[in-house]
Amino acid sequence: MLLTTLVNKEIAVKENYLDKSRKLVSTKNINNEDILIEEETYQAFTMLRSFLEKKKIIIGIESAYRTVEEQEAIYEEFVTKYGKDYAEKVVAPPYHSEHHLGVCLDFSILVDEHFIIDNKEALKNISLYEEVHKYLALFGFILRYPKNKKEITKYPYEPWHIRYVGKNIALVMASNNWTLEEYLTDFSGIIVVNKEKGMTSFDVVYNIKKIFGIRKVGHTGTLDPLAEGVLIVALGKATKVVELLTSYEKEYIASVKLGIKTDTLDITGKVINYIKVEDNLNIEEALEYFKRTYLQEVPIYSAVKVKGKKLYQYARENKSIKLPKKEVTIKEISLLDKKKDSFTFKALVSKGCYIRSLINDICSYLGTYGTMASLVRTKQGDISLSDAYKLDDIRKNNYKLLSIKDVLSFPVISVNSSLAFKIKNGQVIDNLFSIKDKVLFEDEDGIFLGIYEVSGEKLKVWKNF
Ligand code: DAL
Ligand code: ZN
Repeated sequence: MLLTTLVNKEIAVKENYLDKSRKLVSTKNINNEDILIEEETYQAFTMLRSFLEKKKIIIGIESAYRTVEEQEAIYEEFVTKYGKDYAEKVVAPPYHSEHHLGVCLDFSILVDEHFIIDNKEALKNISLYEEVHKYLALFGFILRYPKNKKEITKYPYEPWHIRYVGKNIALVMASNNWTLEEYLTDFSGIIVVNKEKGMTSFDVVYNIKKIFGIRKVGHTGTLDPLAEGVLIVALGKATKVVELLTSYEKEYIASVKLGIKTDTLDITGKVINYIKVEDNLNIEEALEYFKRTYLQEVPIYSAVKVKGKKLYQYARENKSIKLPKKEVTIKEISLLDKKKDSFTFKALVSKGCYIRSLINDICSYLGTYGTMASLVRTKQGDISLSDAYKLDDIRKNNYKLLSIKDVLSFPVISVNSSLAFKIKNGQVIDNLFSIKDKVLFEDEDGIFLGIYEVSGEKLKVWKNF
């Protein structure tokens, strides 16, 4: 279960909602009755409670995890006491309450030596509740049914009902004044990750999905487990433009181990050839030679498809295949360090250039063998390593969410409502803006509408948001 699993009037809990990834623990409620609550939620709650105690605000849990039967009983109690209309308004029907997830709770505040349990009394002491609300996000909680959001949540203001979503998500929601429903549809942007060695690009995407509790996450320009550095990750609607970002040139720092050749062209592969490293290799000259556009052979250990099959599959099956060649440009290249049997260089290369192949080519030119020992992507387009955050930093809320506007190289134009209407509907429009390639349109409030591209004299939709 993700911490953002949505349960509301429309969405019921799934059969296996209490999956093995979350554990319920038992504690006491304000009436000294045994209750269950999800473990991480309870830990966060105890921290919130201690923090508030220092401010002389005493809180307790009235209700947390509820079984379907318990929810049914509450619902029936409300029907009996206040009638069906009112019950429907304020109590979720069984299977539709978040309380089934164990990650939310109704808290109560101690006033004049008793805990408030009556909803009306809670509303009378609203300023006290609102004082608590100020600190919720710092402990990973959200107010699930805030004031003035009934249209979205379908419930009136419940100052006592909080849900644990974790600090990352709670802080994003608080700063945007979003409900969970809004967060799940509107949270989007780009995070530049500094990928660590050993992880696949897919691992990074998986972790970002978990940290932010969203399913739509994608990345550009795969980095192998051996490689580290800039990996651009798109979240939410920004995933729609991710393919545009791959086309940018990239800068790398790579180190080469001389004297061996491996099947994968990097140090993780099997050594297939040795050679004694000569003392007088003119590496500077070789690098200078490769500052050019040339036809580069795609490495066999790559996901490039030939005749419907990925190249590495041919390698694994030991089948021979003619490797395709692609035109690449090495725009800049320079030597950073040179030792007896290794060297390090920095290169700015065009889209589709494989650094391990470049190294292989440089070493062939030098009449020797060499393999890639390490690789750091230091730049993709205008985005550099200094803009990137490690996954651990992101977990600690140290990251910057970029807008797609920050990373796209084409113009952004804000349009009036009548044009916005046409763009939202994907209609062809006149090229009133002298656009040469693509344009991102937004409405007057800065909401993205779509990306259009030139088509003859007109502009036609390329992607809609
Ligand atoms: N009062 C909330 C909506 C519930 O019953 O789950
Ligand atoms: Zn509740």
